[in-house]
Amino acid sequence: MTFISHRDDLLHVEDVPVPTIAEDVGTPFYCYSSASMVERYQAYEAALARLKVDIYYAVKANSNLAVIHTLAKAGAGAEVVSIGEIRRAITAGVPASRIVFAGVGKTREELTDALRIGIFQVNIESEAELEALDSVAVSLGLVAKAGLRINPDVDARTHAKITTGRKENKFGIDIENAPKMFALADTLPGVSLTSLSMHIGSQLTNLNPFRHAYVRMREMTLELRRLGHAVDHLDLGGGIGISYGIHTPPDLESYARIVCECVSDLDCRLSVEPGRSLVGDAGILVTRVIYVKRGAEKRFVIADAAMNDLLRPALYEATHEIMTVARTGKPEETLKRCDLVGPICESGDYIAKNCKLPDVTEGDLLVIMGAGAYGAAMSSTYNSRPLIPEVLVRGGDFSIVRQRQSVEEAMRLEAFSPWQIAGEPQ
Ligand code: LLP
Repeated sequence: MTFISHRDDLLHVEDVPVPTIAEDVGTPFYCYSSASMVERYQAYEAALARLKVDIYYAVKANSNLAVIHTLAKAGAGAEVVSIGEIRRAITAGVPASRIVFAGVGKTREELTDALRIGIFQVNIESEAELEALDSVAVSLGLVAKAGLRINPDVDARTHAKITTGRKENKFGIDIENAPKMFALADTLPGVSLTSLSMHIGSQLTNLNPFRHAYVRMREMTLELRRLGHAVDHLDLGGGIGISYGIHTPPDLESYARIVCECVSDLDCRLSVEPGRSLVGDAGILVTRVIYVKRGAEKRFVIADAAMNDLLRPALYEATHEIMTVARTGKPEETLKRCDLVGPICESGDYIAKNCKLPDVTEGDLLVIMGAGAYGAAMSSTYNSRPLIPEVLVRGGDFSIVRQRQSVEEAMRLEAFSPWQIAGEPQ
C-alpha cells in the first residue's frame, strides 16, 4: 500500500498535505508515515509467521525514539550496536529481553551496561570479544547468552561499502573457525554460546546471496552439533532491499521460502534484523529550492537539504527518487535534467545527479523519497548546519518527534580554553 502519494495534485503523507507540515516546521525536514512502518512490520510477520521468526528492528536504520516506539508497539524487538542504541530502545519501550547487541567493537563498558540491563543476547565477533564478554559476565556474577557471528564469505552483490559477509570484511568470525570458538566458549564460565548469527550486507535486491549464506549457516549448525555443541538459535541478519524508484525489491514470500528451505528443519529458534525495509519507504526528506542556476553544462537546482542531512548519495552513490510536492501534470517530455545539490562547499554535496524534474523555481518544495532509513540517523552538522526536524504522521495528525536544533544548541558542548579567555595574555 502507498502511504505517501499525490492527492489533489499535492503530495500527502497519509492524510496530511506536505506543505502544511512545511509551514509549521520550516524546511528541510524528515517526515515518516506510522502506517507504512506498521504495514511493513506486519508484512514481515505474516510472511514469517509459520516459521516462528522473531523480528528485531535494526535501530541503526532510524533511531528516532518515536520510530522505535512505533515498531515496538507493533511487536518488534531491537537489534542494537551501541549502548546509545540500547538506551534508545529501552526508552522507546522495547523490553530488555527483546534486545540483541551486535557490532564488531563493543567496549567492556558497553558489555557491562548491556548485561546489567539484562538484554537477550550479545552477538560476538572475535575471540578477544568472547573473552571480554566472559570476564565482564563473571565479574557481574552472570552467564551471558551469546551468539557467534559467522562470516560466511558470500558476496551480497550490493554496494562495496555495505557488503559485510566477505572474508576481507571486518565482520564476524571466518566460518571455518566457528568450532574453535564453540570449544573455547565451553571452557568459559561466563558465557553460554548456543547461537549463530550472520549479516552479509544491506540493500540486497537479489535473494541468492541470502540462500548461499543460509546454506553455509545450516552446514555449520550440523557440523557443530556433530562435534557435540548445542545450537538452538539462528539469527539470520538484516532484511531485504527496497526500490529507491529503480530496483525491483524481492518479495517477502520468496524470502520466507528461502528461510524455510534452508533452516526451518533445524529445530532452532530463528530471528531476523530488518532495518531499511521496515522504515526506508516510510520516510521522506522535504527540501525547498533556494536557487536555480544554469551552469555551462548543467542546470543546478540548489536546495536547502544537503549531504549533512542525507549522506547516502555522496557516500554510496545512492539514488533516491525525487518528486515535486505540487504535481504539475506536465507531460514527461517537458521534464528537465538537473543536478539537485545542497549548499555545502563540496562537489560531493548532491542529493541527485541528472534527475528529471519539472521547471522548478525558488521556493518550490521537493521531496526525496525512500529517506526513512539511514537518512536522519546518518546526518551530521557539517558546515555548522544544525540537525533538522523529524515529523511523524498518523492518519490526519502530525507531530514533531525531533525538534530542529539551534546553532546555539550545536555549540553548547564547546568552550574556549582557559588561556583564550579575554584579558589573558596570548
Ligand atoms: N543487522 C546487522 C548486524 C547490521 O549490520 C545491519 C545493517 C542490519 C541488521 C540491518 O540491515 P538492513 O535490513 O537495513 O539491510 N548506511 C547504509 C546501510 C548500512 C547497513 C549496516 N548494517 C546505507 O545507507 O545504505
